[in-house]
Amino acid sequence: MAKRRKLVVGNWKMNGRLTSGLTLAKDLADKALAERPLSYDLVICPPASLLWPVAETIMGSPVLLGAQDCHRANHGAYTGDISAGMLADLGCRYVILGHSERRNGHGETGAEVAAKVTAGHLAGLTTIVCVGETQDQRMSGKTEEVITEQITSSLPDKYQVSSLVIAYEPVWAIGSGEQPEVGVVRQVNKLIRKVLGSVGEVVQVLYGGSVAPQNAESLFAEPEIDGVLVGAASLNSDGFWAIAEKARLY
Ligand code: PGA
Repeated sequence: MAKRRKLVVGNWKMNGRLTSGLTLAKDLADKALAERPLSYDLVICPPASLLWPVAETIMGSPVLLGAQDCHRANHGAYTGDISAGMLADLGCRYVILGHSERRNGHGETGAEVAAKVTAGHLAGLTTIVCVGETQDQRMSGKTEEVITEQITSSLPDKYQVSSLVIAYEPVWAIGSGEQPEVGVVRQVNKLIRKVLGSVGEVVQVLYGGSVAPQNAESLFAEPEIDGVLVGAASLNSDGFWAIAEKARLY
């Protein structure tokens, strides 16, 4: 079995204005250009408002562009939404889907996420599907059940294996400074591969939740963790680069 490549993804969420966002993107592009070729994949996911200016800023550098959500339809009367085809048009290669902030804040169901995965793959995007249990679910011993249900419901019957990434993001670890032990992430990532079945060994399974420069290395060192999805710490170029550079070692 070929070694899975590490993947480092920055999720800016609803942060960044034109000046700050472009400064951050340019800093990263410069750092990545100086280090190229990278032995891992590096992706930034700015808010929709910054996708195009960031695309222009990182063009020609090893930094790849991703978005934070897409609509399931290709076009049409969906006020406020953006289709996967539109994202691809701007140079996006990745799209984050089913983040807990969308599942919980926007009532996104597994079926909706699955439809978005199909839309993303049709547009040529790699979809990063997020799953994770809440603190209550964890405390009541339901982690396995919740992860199994989320993976099963959030993937369409047919999808492109090479365009699928899963991110295990325990809801309680997001933005809290808390994290599960690496051994716990290992077990959950193994479970995710088991639920994926025969393709489990080729799909990259990431970890996300309070990833920071000081805890990144132990995550990359674990063979079951193929990379990280970084929120707050991706908003600072030195900090995010310090995380990314740890991926080079594995
Ligand atoms: P965090 O967010 O790194 O700020 O915890 C991670 C995420 O929500 O993807």
